[in-house]
Amino acid sequence: MVKTLNFWKDKNVLVTGHTGFKGTWLVNLLTQLGAKVSGYSLKNELDYGFYHKTKTNQKINSFYGNICDKNSLKSFMDQVNPEIIFHLAAQPLVRLSYIDPVDTYNTNVVGLANILNISRETKSLKVFLNITSDKCYENFEWDWPYRENDLMGGHDPYSNSKGCAELLTKAFRMSFFNPDNYNKEHNICLSTARAGNVIGGGDWAQDRIIPDLIKSLIEGKKLEIRSPNAIRPWQFVLEPLRGYLTLAEFMYEDGLNFSGSWNFGPDNKDNITVEEMINMLSKHLNINDFYQIIESSRYHEAKLLKLDISKAKNTLGWKPILNMNETLKFVAEWYIGFINNDNVDDLTNKQINDYISLIES
Ligand SMILES: NC(=O)c1ccc[n+]([C@@H]2O[C@H](COP(=O)([O-])OP(=O)(O)OC[C@H]3O[C@@H](n4cnc5c(N)ncnc54)[C@H](O)[C@@H]3O)[C@@H](O)[C@H]2O)c1
Repeated sequence: MVKTLNFWKDKNVLVTGHTGFKGTWLVNLLTQLGAKVSGYSLKNELDYGFYHKTKTNQKINSFYGNICDKNSLKSFMDQVNPEIIFHLAAQPLVRLSYIDPVDTYNTNVVGLANILNISRETKSLKVFLNITSDKCYENFEWDWPYRENDLMGGHDPYSNSKGCAELLTKAFRMSFFNPDNYNKEHNICLSTARAGNVIGGGDWAQDRIIPDLIKSLIEGKKLEIRSPNAIRPWQFVLEPLRGYLTLAEFMYEDGLNFSGSWNFGPDNKDNITVEEMINMLSKHLNINDFYQIIESSRYHEAKLLKLDISKAKNTLGWKPILNMNETLKFVAEWYIGFINNDNVDDLTNKQINDYISLIES
């Protein structure tokens, strides 16, 4: 499953953004592996919910607060004394970042500086993994996948805030968590993880194609697709999460050699267009004639984005195990279950178990 399944037993882990789509999956995965999990995040009550429909809240030490609030974050971290932090709290939407760029930079950059600064005084901490995005790269709209040492950039405020988050993490690494001073002046290994377009049940974010599709089915409307030809690195949520856990374990055990930036994306053949992905998904959902293509959005969005995952494959031994069809089968199964009023906890935990058995087989 991950480097060592037993590694996570009793580990003291803090997840920021634990009420979000990826955060809820991560917390469920970690608790299944026996970790002692805490969560710090805004409450995040979306229409159809995910976190608040699961029993996740009962399994962890959860606190609702803003990542930019120094006092509340510091007192929570002093109470928790985490050994490992997965930082996922963010404003993650491109279109929302055009509407409120200042809030996006506040959360994604100032909030990150806040938690990194508090981490300097957190004696228990060994691993800090900052979750950024494939969108952190300067996008040249070319066919080559981006490698970890490519230029940071970002056209829109969200993508750019993730480029800034990468640069900020690097500055903290050089200044305060420098590998040269590891085990001398500090004991913290600081890295970033850049995943692609993560898909899976429980995502209800605005302006993401799969949540939009499911909401349009529930509400009896046609899905509107704005960028049918945009190519994206789609991946099932548990794939990058397994990558984060694998990396964190390496960082914990060898803080000197595993700080840096890491891409976690699908295999090259699974970089497909929005329209191709939606058509493949429709077969699993058993629907047709469900979308219309509308005029392009007035907001710029990248058309071509691929990630080079050689570093994670060669150094961590991590690689995706699902192809596009298997990925979409997981996605469809979860949302069909949700629409049929199945228990969200059972659905989520079943998928975690199914995924673990695939890894172990
Ligand atoms: N979903 C994807 O396709 C994808 C791809 C690449 C990277 N990412 C990154 O992964 C992380 C999680 O994304 P997600 O899809 O789960 O997003 P999400 O919107 O579902 O979750 C975001 C989480 O951050 C919390 N949050 C937002 N603003 C906050 C603030 N000011 N203070 C405290 N908490 C705050 C929310 O309450 C929520 O828990 C983000 O950093 C995102 O940029 C996501």
